[in-house]
Amino acid sequence: MVFFRSVTALSKLRSRLGQQSSLRDSVRWIQTQSSTDLELRSQLAELIPEQQERLKKLKADYGKVQLGNITVDMVIGGMRGMTGLLWETSLLDPDEGIRFRGLSIPECQKVLPAAKPGGEPLPEGLLWLLLTGKVPSKEQVDALSKELRTRAVVPDYVYKAIDALPITAHPMTQFTTGVMALQVESEFQKAYEKGIHKSKYWEPTFEDSLSLIAQVPVVAAYIYRRIFKDGKVKQIDDSLDYGANFSHVLGFDDPKVHELMRLYVTIHSDHEGGNVSAHTGHLVASALSDPYLSFAAALNGLAGPLHGLANQEVLLWIKSVVDEVGENVTTEQLKDYVWQTLKSGKVVPGFGHGVLRKTDPRYTCQREFALKHMPDDPLFQLVSKLYEVVPPILTELGKVKNPWPNVDAHSGVLLNHFGLTEARYFTVLFGVSRSIGIGSQLIWDRALGLPLERPKSVTMESLENLCKKAASY
Ligand SMILES: CC(C)(COP(=O)(O)OP(=O)(O)OC[C@H]1O[C@@H](n2cnc3c(N)ncnc32)[C@H](O)[C@@H]1OP(=O)(O)O)[C@@H](O)C(=O)NCCC(=O)NCCS
Repeated sequence: MVFFRSVTALSKLRSRLGQQSSLRDSVRWIQTQSSTDLELRSQLAELIPEQQERLKKLKADYGKVQLGNITVDMVIGGMRGMTGLLWETSLLDPDEGIRFRGLSIPECQKVLPAAKPGGEPLPEGLLWLLLTGKVPSKEQVDALSKELRTRAVVPDYVYKAIDALPITAHPMTQFTTGVMALQVESEFQKAYEKGIHKSKYWEPTFEDSLSLIAQVPVVAAYIYRRIFKDGKVKQIDDSLDYGANFSHVLGFDDPKVHELMRLYVTIHSDHEGGNVSAHTGHLVASALSDPYLSFAAALNGLAGPLHGLANQEVLLWIKSVVDEVGENVTTEQLKDYVWQTLKSGKVVPGFGHGVLRKTDPRYTCQREFALKHMPDDPLFQLVSKLYEVVPPILTELGKVKNPWPNVDAHSGVLLNHFGLTEARYFTVLFGVSRSIGIGSQLIWDRALGLPLERPKSVTMESLENLCKKAASY
């Protein structure tokens, strides 16, 4: 049993206030009180009209400009290289990696507020940046941290929905179930049922997205403690920021883990719009499904081994190397193991990417964290050795477009070093982080009035006919 449950917190609050309102009203009351003077909300309200104008002008002036040709390869090749989505919060360059509102990861590490001088960026700062395009001050970030703590309230039925699943259910299944149960309180759904004007859609979307971002660490921690520990989750700590609090509710209070979690959440938050989870969230939200429904769908995509589940697969694979060959594996033994994996029809997890063509900067900054905090960790040394061994082998295969490591190649050994050893849980951490990127973009989707997503599909027969017709011209 958890000893922190929202019901208790809210009941206490209600009796403190001497109000007779329902639990739901209390949640609403907290949200209205805290949102009223939330600077982030008012900044957005100011930004939205000018961005709406910008989009209108783009459409009017350049609506018919061509951005490239669609080839048969693209249609049958998972739409690789096909520009087809508007995603404001971040942009991925194949060589340089991700930029959040124009800022690279090292730049974010430099300019975003940290918990202590020279420390890792606070994820709340990134959330502010993604939403507004502006680097926030420490005071603005502190106010947002407080807001998120206030919203980190999870109704009891969410825990009950998770408890209905066997403990053996994959942590991602439990997480998606928890997010679906959170949907019961969706502000967007309620506002839509009441007939909200479309120009106001972004407002309940903002409320839902912010609450979702605040709630998911608590749900995630419950799942971790339920499956792997004693089922008890600590109370959110009013003195801690988002990343540190996530670490705290999971049960890790080493300041180094707080720093790791700040970095982890920041770099996993967003990776432009075409990846499976981001695209899924955007697609589902385009039907005006609320942020909870959209994010739960995104999580189901993240749970696939070619996407977010790769972080689980990497640590399991690295541990299988150690089990089979031992920690002091030689370069030759490692090469053999990589080939053995490939010959058995599997991918080498943590390497390759749909867009990137160089080492993922999210890998590089995790490597720097490891060099600073745990240079002698044997699994980190193994990861470093893989960096030398795997790319030449994947290149030799001749078909892999990017032989370099991605974000997932590194995250597991960092977590493992600090005691978070349960690989099956790792994708949930990724999922919590993604709430920040997807949640931010969904607010802009509604603010900009982006339409229902509906690309054209074709059958093989119609594609053949189209091609024959094109060839005869
Ligand atoms: C990420 C990934 C799915 C990208 O797929 P993609 O865009 O289709 O990649 P490519 O165009 O380079 O794929 C071409 C071929 O190389 C293979 N390939 C790519 N990365 C590979 C890897 N790490 N190990 C083995 N084979 C790989 C593909 O499976 C594909 O083989 P096929 O033609 O027999 O189907 C792929 O690199 C992969 O499976 N990586 C391992 C899983 C992983 O780390 N995922 C997390 C990504 S952040």
